[in-house]
Amino acid sequence: MGNSKKLSVDLKERSYEIIVGKDLIKTAGQKIKQNISGKDIIIVSDRNVAKYYLTELRNSCENAKLSCEEIILPSGENTKSFNQLNLLVERLLSMGISRTTTLIALGGGVVGDITGFAASILLRGIDFVQIPTTLLAQVDSSVGGKTGINSSHGKNLIGAFYQPKLVIADVSTLDTLPKRQILAGYSEIVKYGLINNLTFFKWLEKNGKEVCSGNKQSQIKAIVESCKMKSEFVSEDELENSKRTLLNLGHTFGHAIEAHTGFSNKVLHGEAVSIGLSLAFELSAKLGLCSVSEVERIQTHFKLIGLPFKLSQLLDKSCGPDNLIEFMKNDKKNKNGKLTLILARGIGKAFVTNKINYSDVKPLISSSLK
Ligand code: NAD
Ligand code: GLY
Repeated sequence: MGNSKKLSVDLKERSYEIIVGKDLIKTAGQKIKQNISGKDIIIVSDRNVAKYYLTELRNSCENAKLSCEEIILPSGENTKSFNQLNLLVERLLSMGISRTTTLIALGGGVVGDITGFAASILLRGIDFVQIPTTLLAQVDSSVGGKTGINSSHGKNLIGAFYQPKLVIADVSTLDTLPKRQILAGYSEIVKYGLINNLTFFKWLEKNGKEVCSGNKQSQIKAIVESCKMKSEFVSEDELENSKRTLLNLGHTFGHAIEAHTGFSNKVLHGEAVSIGLSLAFELSAKLGLCSVSEVERIQTHFKLIGLPFKLSQLLDKSCGPDNLIEFMKNDKKNKNGKLTLILARGIGKAFVTNKINYSDVKPLISSSLK
């Protein structure tokens, strides 16, 4: 893992390394072996990813003298369901797993979230490793231990905090990722700049196009910076009682959009997030917390990259503000029936508030739907 960059998530005895670089899957076996307790691994992947990377990973694990089996899930957001979780855990149990079996999640956020959740509940907890293969998973979902599935009531409502033993982000895998998915992942990168890092946002304004067009050095820099910020937040507030809540900037709106569209391909998670980020800043400007020019600056960047920033770009006329507000009411972050939102006093100055009413949000949603 020669020229790769290494970071760590500091959680005492549950700390782990994040490795970011090129061509890492080829040699991942040795690294996995050093970080897990047993020698039996089961790779969980989805059809699209397995086609490209399963054999490479399997060979690398077998070269490291790990005993290796695999399970291939259907791809797409609908896989994060109780039905698929049931099939997955029953299949794993029928394979005769023990507490020294390790699951390897090879794929995007969907595979990572459901595999991590399965690891958290099987035999009261077995090891798992994340090998994220989407930009979104490399900058966000593979780090920090949020695992889970969706419910008809909303996004990620069933799950557990459960940390992996290791994260290996191989940027070479991004070469086969469709452009739409690259852009969706990029919106989570922008999120970090908007939360607390204006310097990073300025870097993205200059280099974002390169990140999205596949420049490896720019991708590694963007992933390392994002993971650095994420691991700081997670190390400080693993269970999201304070600072980690900021990582949900744009997500209350975003999750409502995804739930409204039935977790389908119509709107990808990252696309819902870019609209959500934009709405969070629009609301902040409306409340006089930040300037309209900052909202325009963010929207200009999304336009340049090719990401949506208005609800009307992805939702049709059948959606009214109340459709989204109903889902916002189910958001996990809400306390005592009060909406929890992340707003901003400017780019890089996000904060959490419980002082916003649904009536403040409704006109904003209405105008974004037009
Ligand atoms: P995804 O896992 O559905 O992957 C997107 C698509 O790309 C899928 O069709 C997949 O098969 C395909 N794919 C993946 N890697 C590929 C590759 N290298 N080459 C070709 N095709 C590839 O989606 P995602 O955007 O990675 O993840 C979205 C999920 O992540 C959502 O469910 C979201 O809630 C979750 N998420 C979780 C966290 C967390 O902290 N746990 C954070 C952010 C998002
Ligand atoms: N994606 C937000 C978090 O992990 O906290």
